[in-house]
Amino acid sequence: MDFVEEAVERAVAKAKVAGLNVDFMVQEFFTLGSWDRKFQTIIDSGLFHIFSGDEVRKAAYLEIVNQLLKDNGRLYVLSCKEEPGIDGGVNADEIFDTFRERFIVESLHEFEAETVVDAAENAPDRRWLSYFAVIKKCER
Ligand SMILES: C[S@@+](CC[C@H](N)C(=O)[O-])C[C@H]1O[C@@H](n2cnc3c(N)ncnc32)[C@H](O)[C@@H]1O
Repeated sequence: MDFVEEAVERAVAKAKVAGLNVDFMVQEFFTLGSWDRKFQTIIDSGLFHIFSGDEVRKAAYLEIVNQLLKDNGRLYVLSCKEEPGIDGGVNADEIFDTFRERFIVESLHEFEAETVVDAAENAPDRRWLSYFAVIKKCER
């Protein structure tokens, strides 16, 4: 899911090449609060870190994830790591602090992500240092 049509078109094309049968949708994340569905697993690839430092949107994000995730379900979050001199990204403390109340951060690993060709071309020397977090929703 992405609210940019071209992003979804790229994902559809990649899934086709990989022979995967996946449903994609062009959708604003903050409308998902109206969904009456629950999931055991949610994968966030590059959304959460956009809200870094924005307490209002982080709270709205948490509310929606909390609503969509089953008890004991897991949220897998891939985020760019905050780095000096580079816009965006999140630091490890912010990940732990954000999810502390209703979730458990079970693991947090740093790794170097691959990125899309145009982003790599625009910043050829950049290492896309990132975090991969496994986050469990606590049982109520
Ligand atoms: C860092 S990119 C990650 C793209 C892709 N998910 C990936 O992992 O390669 C962040 C994406 O979030 C999308 N995005 C940002 N805010 C959004 C929102 N409120 N609802 C849906 N998509 C959003 C942007 O259009 C952008 O494609």
